[in-house]
Amino acid sequence: MSNNQPIAVFDSGVGGISILRELIKHMPNENYIYYGDSANAPYGSKSHDEIKYATLKNAAMLINMGAKALVVACNTATSVAIDDIRRLYSDIPVIGVEPALKPAVQFKPNSTILVMATPTTLSESKFSSLMSRYGETSKIIPLPCRRLAKMVEDGILEGDIIDEYLGELFKPYKDVHIDSIVLGCTHYPFVKKSILKMFDYKVELFDGAYGTAKETKRRLYEKNLQSEQTENGSIDIMTSADINKFSELAHKLLNADI
Ligand code: DGL
Repeated sequence: MSNNQPIAVFDSGVGGISILRELIKHMPNENYIYYGDSANAPYGSKSHDEIKYATLKNAAMLINMGAKALVVACNTATSVAIDDIRRLYSDIPVIGVEPALKPAVQFKPNSTILVMATPTTLSESKFSSLMSRYGETSKIIPLPCRRLAKMVEDGILEGDIIDEYLGELFKPYKDVHIDSIVLGCTHYPFVKKSILKMFDYKVELFDGAYGTAKETKRRLYEKNLQSEQTENGSIDIMTSADINKFSELAHKLLNADI
């Protein structure tokens, strides 16, 4: 294994770009392959078996391409298949992403925390374990968002469509003081501004990007796999859908001010 082989990052679509941005920030000299399975997005409304099948297929493809580490930049795919991927590819670091409940709980004890994620992420056992670990000291409210990832996939980051959808989602909580919101899907950081606009008071937002980047860096050091390049590395973007459309949105999100 050469240290200059790429780190592969994948998601159901463009959402994982929010993780890729953070990885590049922490490790600019690494080479990256990003794969967005947009032909199959959104994963969040697929069955457990369909998600597992797609995720294992993506992992196999990226590892065959020579990835030295794999970042599953999708909460939904992580919830369903991270244990299987780790079992199959125990010789390389495999890093997943999970809803950032820990920093949200640490930020303010006894607070009320909304967790926005796909219905699958919230119904899998990994989330139940997180809830039992952190739910004792804070009030944690899971909020399944069926349509939000697809909106981001379609490049809808702000405007009436998203405002109306978010308005409906948050309506049941209009009389509840929300201290923080965990963005438990990698697509959601791209609509942070639209989410914050829904509240007329300050709400803290947490996502899994920082934790995932830090953990990836740690795992590369642990295995002595960090890049030896002194210059910035390369970023190859791939998708199962239309590459021109995907690449345009991916680059826009890579450079977006979020
Ligand atoms: N970005 C993904 C996540 O973090 C999934 C979105 C979807 O495809 O439903 O959960």
